[in-house]
This record gives sequence, C-alpha cells and structure tokens, in this order.
Amino acid sequence: ELKVAVIGGGSSYTPELVEGFIRHYDELPVKQLVLADIEAGQEKLRIVGELARRMAEKAGVPMDIQLTLDRREAIKDADFVSTQIRVGLLDARARDERIPAKHGLIGQETTGAGGFAKALRTVPVILDICRDIRELAPNAWLLNFTNPAGIVTEAVLKYGGVKTIGLCNLPIGTRMQVAGAYGVDVDKVYIEMAGINHLNWTTRIIVDGEDVSQAFLTRAAGASGLTMKNIPDLGWDAEFLQSLGALPCAYHRYYYMREEMLEKQREELDTKGTRAEVVKKVEAELFELYKDPELKVKPAQLEQRGGAYYSEVAVNLMTSIYNNKKDIQTVNVLNNGIIPSLPDEVCVEVNAVIDADGAHPLQLTTPLRPQMRGLLQVVKAYEELTVEAAVHGDYHAALQALTIHPLVGTAAAAKAVLDDLLAANRAYLPQF
Ligand code: G6P
Ligand code: MN
Repeated sequence: ELKVAVIGGGSSYTPELVEGFIRHYDELPVKQLVLADIEAGQEKLRIVGELARRMAEKAGVPMDIQLTLDRREAIKDADFVSTQIRVGLLDARARDERIPAKHGLIGQETTGAGGFAKALRTVPVILDICRDIRELAPNAWLLNFTNPAGIVTEAVLKYGGVKTIGLCNLPIGTRMQVAGAYGVDVDKVYIEMAGINHLNWTTRIIVDGEDVSQAFLTRAAGASGLTMKNIPDLGWDAEFLQSLGALPCAYHRYYYMREEMLEKQREELDTKGTRAEVVKKVEAELFELYKDPELKVKPAQLEQRGGAYYSEVAVNLMTSIYNNKKDIQTVNVLNNGIIPSLPDEVCVEVNAVIDADGAHPLQLTTPLRPQMRGLLQVVKAYEELTVEAAVHGDYHAALQALTIHPLVGTAAAAKAVLDDLLAANRAYLPQF
C-alpha cells in the first residue's frame, strides 16, 4: 500500500499535488495520503484537506486522505515524504524581502540574503524531519520542495541520513516554455540543464530530434514569457545570450541584470508591496474558493502562483521511482563529479535517470564554459557556507557566505544585513 506524507500539507499548493495524484493514479496508486501541518496551520489544513477529499471523490479515486497535526504519525511507514513547509510563514518571507531591500540589496525568497535567511530557518526543521524518517520510515524517500531547495537538499545529503532528492518546477517550466515557443507537445522537447537550483543553465535544447540550442538563443533575446509568475519579466539582451552560449534561468536576472531588478524591486515595493504580501492576498482568495463545498477540482486561480506544474514534478518523480521507469528528469542530487569544477559532496541540479534506486546523474554533453563556471562556483561556495551556518549556527560561516554572494558582495554589507536578519529571525533560529 503506497503511502505518501506531505509535510506542510495545509499549503495552498496542495490541490495542485492532489490533482497530480488523481491524474496518475493508475501508475501511482497512492492509497494513503497524509497531509500534516502545525497547529498554526490547522484551519488551512482542514479547508485544503476537505477540498482534497472532494477532488478524490469526484474523480472516483480510492485515495484515503488523512489530516494530522502529528508529523511523526504522518511519516510512520511512508514510502514518500514530501516537504513543502514555510518556517515562519509568509510574514518571515516578507521580512526576507524587506530587510535586504532596506540595505539596498536584492530581497528575494530564495536568492541572495533573503534566501539565506530562509535557509537558516528551514534547515533545522528539515533535519528534525530527517530524524523522524530515520526512525519511523527508514526506507522512505524525502522529496524536498522546500526552498531554498538546493541548500536544503545539500543539508539533507550531508547531515540528514535519509534518501533524498530535491525538486523545483523551474526545469519543467522551461521545457514547457520551449514547447510553447515551437508549438509542439512537451514530450517532443528535451533539454539539458546544469548548475544548481535557481541558478542553472539550459545548455542544450532538442525539439523533435533537432538540436535548436543556438536558434533558441536568438529567439529568446528580448522575448517575454521566459520567466515565472514571481519574477519580473525583463528581456534578455541578444548579444549577451549569444556570448553566454546557454539559456539562463529566470532567477539569473537577479545576477545578470541586478541594477534593473533593484529598480523593479523599488517600484514594486512602492506599489504592490513584497511578493510575500501579494501571495498572501492570492492565498486568502484561494482559501475562500477552497471553502466552497461545490468546488471539486483545482481552481484556475492557483496559476497566479510561481509554482505552476509542481504536481507534475512531484508525481513524475514518484512514478519513476515506484515503477523503475528510467526516464530523465532534472533534479537536485549529489554532484559526485558530474560538474567537475564543483566539490563531489555538494548538491547540483542536473539531468538524471530516475529508477527504483533514485536519481543517477547523466554526464554533461556540454561542459560549462568559464562564464557559467565562475558564477556557479561562487554561488555554490556561498551555499556550502550557508549549510554550515544553518546546521551549526556558525556566525563566521554566515558572514563569509554573504560576503562572497554576488548579490551582497562586501564584508560591511554582509555584516549589516546578517545582523538584521538574525535579529528579525531570533524565534526561528535555535542553532544560533
Ligand atoms: C518558482 C520557484 C519556486 C518558488 C515559487 C514562488 O516556481 O521554482 O521554488 O517557491 O516560484 O512562487 P510564489 O507564488 O510563492 O511567489
Ligand atoms: Mn524552485
């Protein structure tokens, strides 16, 4: 009997996941779906849980959906544990955006100083979850969606002692954008991605068997649409893309167009507020819809969130592990030499063959050129230091992490923003 536990099950994203389980029930018969949340999320859990039950019932799928505040109960004997938690909820995310902004820096959920603070709050909780898994479901796979997914997955790989794969919807989103551009079915598109989470490059694009990597870069110049709902859609410069030689991901805008993005950030803070505040409003609307007893499907409004297709990603991965499928997916895994310019023991986001034993990274067909390698090495070093800071409460590691981050960049700026972030997050940082 296949059992899946979702930690952070009261999330507004859950109907997305449930829809995926329903759609793929033949291949992945999830008999028991346990949605677990914390006390503060009780009300949301109830609303989303009841919607999930209505969805399953309407679809005629015999999935037993349980709701619990007892995480250990949820994890016990699970085959898959998926984590989609947000420690400190959206208020903490709003601070992650505002505090760096106050220092003249990019303030973002996963990238730069904001993502750093999120890592410090999240890693201790994830390692607690790992402890529960080791004890109560030692054979379970931990599929982590919790951001910053690359850093969190690396912390689990180094300190968690459980089988894990980190996930993000950006790779599938990119594939879908390419499919859309060529007007073909997504199955006809193969892309090779390499890098780390939210900093990966698409180095090869094959459409219908034809290598269109170069041609697509020409198309992508200035083009809108190559982004996600949560990232301002600033167009890429044609010459820049040609000389880069690969398609950057949506989050690369923070690095390659920092000044423009800072300008956008100021503008948005003045008009709409932080992304966290926008998401709060979207969530409130979503939960109003979810409450409607007549609603029995995932509402279209969920598409306003950045996490589109996230169910696809989770379900595809579970399906391939469960059925020993050996298909290729882009996931966060142990490097182990796949990107030779990075240490073996770090987490990278690359294409991998997925089978019953997990993810087996594929050799890159296109090595990362210096322009990609250099940025990657710096940001990966930042991530390694952040893992140490988050696991051990190491202030020195934290200070060095932020100092070398390209979106912070000086010791003084790092110290100032770090001290502010630590003070604002006191309640969530047992390790410091
Ligand atoms: C993208 C990223 C996710 C991120 C999300 C934010 O999809 O891949 O990692 O959490 O956007 O979306 P939101 O609607 O919460 O701003
Ligand atoms: Mn992501």
